[in-house]
Amino acid sequence: IEALLGAGPLSGRHAIVTSGPTIEPIDPVRYIANRSTGRQGHAIAAALAELGARVTLVSGPVALADPPGCTVVRVESALQMLNEARAALPADIAVCAAAVADWTVVNRSTEKRKKKIGEPPPVLQLAPNPDILATLARAEADRPRLVIGFAAETEALLDNARDKRQRKGCDWILANSVAEGDDSSFGGADNTVHLLDGESVESWPRMSKREVGRRLAQRIAAALAE
Ligand code: CTP
Ligand code: CA
Repeated sequence: IEALLGAGPLSGRHAIVTSGPTIEPIDPVRYIANRSTGRQGHAIAAALAELGARVTLVSGPVALADPPGCTVVRVESALQMLNEARAALPADIAVCAAAVADWTVVNRSTEKRKKKIGEPPPVLQLAPNPDILATLARAEADRPRLVIGFAAETEALLDNARDKRQRKGCDWILANSVAEGDDSSFGGADNTVHLLDGESVESWPRMSKREVGRRLAQRIAAALAE
């Protein structure tokens, strides 16, 4: 309701949110993907819109409904996601929740690869994808005031998350463990995250991804109001 009245704490703000996996084609029928469902990114986008923000959600392929009140831009590859995220600038807030494929297939084939009896299987040649979070965080002219990333780790969670924050130049990192058997691993409804802002670590209790989105949106609103 606040959002409808234009009276939410984030009204007048523009947020870019990336969500879901990206997929990297091997040939017209095959691709490299990952386990991201987009639930956390979509929940963040919805929560920011609830607080009155104008939200551009740049999403890889997901089986989720569009969050209410968001402009959804659908992409497949990491390069497309980067281009759409940049095209959506300027913004006050960027939240990179997508599980961006780290590598793209260089020797992608325009024809379906066929098995040939007696021949060895094809070898995929990979090249690194651009880093969307780092690109937004290091944008010179139009860097969003608050750039937030995730760190999905299977080990040394907080150390790796601190490193990632520094390396990418973002303001906050939400660290979550994706070790096998962990309750916050890919696909679940809940998440257990730690918010690192450079000085302190705030460990949030396990909660639904929707609640993580709401809590993060509140924190963003408070930070921008300062
Ligand atoms: N990210 C991104 N673009 C990439 C890779 C990652 O925007 N090409 C963002 C993710 O959306 C996330 C953060 O960077 O917010 C961390 O992603 P993660 O996969 O944990 O980190 P990487 O830097 O890719 O390192 P690694 O996968 O080797 O741990
Ligand atoms: Ca990665």
